[in-house]
Amino acid sequence: MHTNEIDRKLSIAPMMKHTDKHFRYFMRLLSAHAVLYTEMITTGALIHGERKRFLNFNEIEHPLAIQLGGNNPNDLALCAKIAEDEGYDEINLNIGCPSDRVQNGRFGACLMSDTELVSDCVNRIQTTVKIPITIKTRIGIDDQDSYSFLENFVKSVSEAGCNTFIIHARKAILSGLSPKKNREIPPLNYERVYNIKRRFPSLNISINGGFIDIAQIKSQLEYVDGVMVGRAAYQNPFMLIEADKVIYGDDSSSLTREEILSKFKDYAVEQTNHGFNIKSLTRHVIGLYQGQPGARNYRRMLSDPISEGTNTTRFLDRIIQSVSETYT
Ligand SMILES: Cc1cc2nc3c(=O)[nH]c(=O)nc-3n(C[C@H](O)[C@H](O)[C@H](O)COP(=O)(O)O)c2cc1C
Repeated sequence: MHTNEIDRKLSIAPMMKHTDKHFRYFMRLLSAHAVLYTEMITTGALIHGERKRFLNFNEIEHPLAIQLGGNNPNDLALCAKIAEDEGYDEINLNIGCPSDRVQNGRFGACLMSDTELVSDCVNRIQTTVKIPITIKTRIGIDDQDSYSFLENFVKSVSEAGCNTFIIHARKAILSGLSPKKNREIPPLNYERVYNIKRRFPSLNISINGGFIDIAQIKSQLEYVDGVMVGRAAYQNPFMLIEADKVIYGDDSSSLTREEILSKFKDYAVEQTNHGFNIKSLTRHVIGLYQGQPGARNYRRMLSDPISEGTNTTRFLDRIIQSVSETYT
């Protein structure tokens, strides 16, 4: 699938050190429809780094967006073109990350106060690629946190050619707060995002921040076009199993935890045969039994060191057998 008509009712957030291709493969076993995002990839890393490694994905991951971090319109346009040629379905620009490293590079959330530069970036990307360009941002930064600040940002950037915004419904505090605290301390303000949708009804607006179950996500669709989920998808991934049915009206497939684990095993065997370390795969499925009896045992088995002579198949078969015994 490669389409400009991406259905954004549900998306899985970009998360550094989490949403690599293995995790995204796992997400696809839970939902055939959710839009998946890469970790943020900086323009510098893509232009000068190990490009193949950053861009690699499995075909099953579509619809798939790449998130870029940067502030140079030419570099962003070049990276967008590279990603488009590689087969990505969407270019997403990070205007929400508050980390010091990102601020030192003058990109991420601090760009919210430079609408002219963001508009320039959007315009250059938009005229370079055919796939959609989207923005992930916050409701404000520091004391620039009024409704009109956000409204002006969205207005200017949409006029430059971006018609899809994913808004993390809390502001970013750019000094003295770690990225982690910046996801917890500034209060959520969903109403601000709903108001943006009301003000710009023709724009596609997704809301992000604090959603933990499908009923809650579904209820947001009364106010906005889509919901992006981050931490809950990682910590309690099986909550997504209802997503296709409840959100997309598609009940064609819905797997049990054991079936998902078994499919993930097949994938893990293939990937370890290609040289990936087994733990770089299994770390992503650690939340699969969250809240279930036996979850602790499952997590412990996954975290066990792999003894010599044990291959991926044997390691995961042992775990699958153990959980099957617990749940039959
Ligand atoms: C470990 C971690 C890494 C993250 N990395 C990124 C990132 O690379 N780009 C980005 O735009 N947001 C990043 N975020 C923020 C999430 O995309 C999301 O906006 C935030 O977690 C709020 O959504 P949630 O409450 O559903 O988790 C990250 C969040 C976490 C927890």
